[in-house]
Amino acid sequence: MADYTIKVRRFQPESGEGAYWEEFKVDLDPSLSVLDGILQAKDRDDGSLSVRCSCRAAICGSCGMKINGQSGLGCKTQVGEAQEMANKFAQGGAEEAAHIVIEPMGNMPVIKDLITDMESTHWTKIRRVTPWLLPHGEAPEREYVVEPESMIDITQSMACIQCGACVSSCLSMEADPDFIGPAALAKAYRFVGDPRDAETVERLHDLAGDPHGIYDCTHCFSCIDACPKGVAPMDQIMRLRRRAGEEGIHDPNNGHNHEAAFVKIIEKKGTLDESLLLQESFAPGVKGKLKPTRGAIKGLLGSIPTAIRGIRSGKMRSIPKLIPGVHPKLPGGAQDEVKAIYAHAEAHREEFNLYIKGEEGDDE
Ligand code: SF4
Ligand code: SF4
Ligand code: FES
Repeated sequence: MADYTIKVRRFQPESGEGAYWEEFKVDLDPSLSVLDGILQAKDRDDGSLSVRCSCRAAICGSCGMKINGQSGLGCKTQVGEAQEMANKFAQGGAEEAAHIVIEPMGNMPVIKDLITDMESTHWTKIRRVTPWLLPHGEAPEREYVVEPESMIDITQSMACIQCGACVSSCLSMEADPDFIGPAALAKAYRFVGDPRDAETVERLHDLAGDPHGIYDCTHCFSCIDACPKGVAPMDQIMRLRRRAGEEGIHDPNNGHNHEAAFVKIIEKKGTLDESLLLQESFAPGVKGKLKPTRGAIKGLLGSIPTAIRGIRSGKMRSIPKLIPGVHPKLPGGAQDEVKAIYAHAEAHREEFNLYIKGEEGDDE
């Protein structure tokens, strides 16, 4: 047994007061969970301490919470590990022992203490993506029979337990609460990738055409870190983007063209020449440069405020790099090496995407 202090963010709406912090001393074996610690405090110190839980075995998805700022499951996080993490964060500052900080999930309204409203931000969005199969034709007399291999691609998204930890950690959702979000998009891929579904293209048009859809994700990796079941929602979003790109679907966020611009510029220059990025994203190639469409001009002008904000905030750190022709060349034969990587990837049908790549010999 060891002693721990858990510091819980509490909110009791019936009191009429705002949220506050409260510390509880608990003694547990380090291999037991943070949820066990919360339940011990509830049992010994304050029965009104509220937490949602059921299985205590990372199966039901009820106990999503933030532990030391990281979204996850209370029942899957060992209290000893949480203490180590808290100590790491406190290093260099605090003299007293670090406390394990426990908060309700983010991006969701808090109902009471650690219980959040999953309906408004999670379940509504899950329903948004039509989370059921849409097969065409006569239903078979018994079950639909498919090749087991054809389901491998979606097994990762099928592992979701709807805990909401990814939603809690999503930085895009923080900026745009209307973003469909990592859990719902992972669920969408579960059906887009299902060979029995007959409305894949319609689904892709819907998800790419929504300004809060698949191109609203900023690749921040937070949902991958948060997910306790290895669903890697960001990877599923990248798969949706790949499929939408293959269908030639144009999106209002210009996301597909923006991705293509990155790929093209790096192939040409070896590293990202930011001075070309906007033009290549909205008006690609020489034709785009000489004769931009009205939509391209609108897109370019509309991006100027974002670019100014990027310069002001320091995100764009080198202003000279924004001047065409200033971008430095790679030394020696490095440029040829980059081109060779592209040629290899093309020959082996691999994608220029950090997270998804085809296997050599794949038909797809
Ligand atoms: S990778 Fe995308 S979906 Fe995942 S947390 Fe970041 S912004 Fe959200
Ligand atoms: S994708 Fe992972 S983190 Fe998100 S709801 Fe499903 S299991 Fe939880
Ligand atoms: S209590 Fe079921 S997942 Fe934690």
